[in-house]
Amino acid sequence: MTRIARGNVSVLLGLLAGASVLSAGCSQNVETVRDGERLEDSAPPPPAGGNPLVFTAGEPLDFDAFEEPEVPPFVKAFFMHTWVEALYSVPANNNPNPDWTSPLLDPVDNRVWCTDCHVSGQVDFENIPKMRVPMTDVYENDHEFMADLMRKWVARLNSDEYFARAKLARPVDCLTCHATHPDPD
Ligand code: HEC
Ligand code: HEC
Repeated sequence: MTRIARGNVSVLLGLLAGASVLSAGCSQNVETVRDGERLEDSAPPPPAGGNPLVFTAGEPLDFDAFEEPEVPPFVKAFFMHTWVEALYSVPANNNPNPDWTSPLLDPVDNRVWCTDCHVSGQVDFENIPKMRVPMTDVYENDHEFMADLMRKWVARLNSDEYFARAKLARPVDCLTCHATHPDPD
């Protein structure tokens, strides 16, 4: 399922010339938000002393060597926008908590914003617009991807090491926004 989705993604990439300018601009600095595992970290190491692209008889072709790179930053930015909005207005997920109330101390004048969590200042995260592209749909329906991204996001939201925590009236968990536990695990 994920593999098929990635296949679509690579086709879509070609259609996204304009958007990828943006993504290139960000990726110079992606180091700044690296925490936790990334797609590339989970890839198996290249065979010792071997170029994985060189095929010798009897050796299986290493298809992972052709794997798509990670999710482009502008796709993640779309979801970041919907989550920030879900802190002050009814969440736009499939099955929102019917008793949702804002977990913010002041949902009108003191909202959580991109720069509360993206603190390096090297990337202008807040200027990455909310853009829905075909690739957004692909990842939106990949619940494992969504849950993984959201776990990291919620952890940073509740962390005293970032600025968002001070704006919360109570800690946030998955059920703040979802009617039933959305964790696919
Ligand atoms: C509550 C904390 C929090 C807030 C608020 C937040 N982010 Fe993030 N953001 C994260 C975390 C954590 C990650 C790393 C997740 C990952 O890449 O696996 C991330 C990753 C990203 C990435 C991907 C970067 C990369 O290396 O690919 C982009 C782009 C991004 N955020 C944009 C935004 C924008 C735009 C906003 C405001 C609308 C925003 N973020 C608000 C926590 C936050
Ligand atoms: C602040 C509100 C908020 C919190 C907290 C939250 N989510 Fe979500 N979640 C959303 C929104 C909004 C979407 C829809 C995002 C989109 O499609 O743009 C979503 C979508 C999802 C989806 C995709 C299916 C769907 O319903 O759209 C999964 C899976 C998911 N969340 C898992 C989690 C998990 C796991 C946690 C806890 C670690 C969590 N979420 C915490 C707001 C939240």
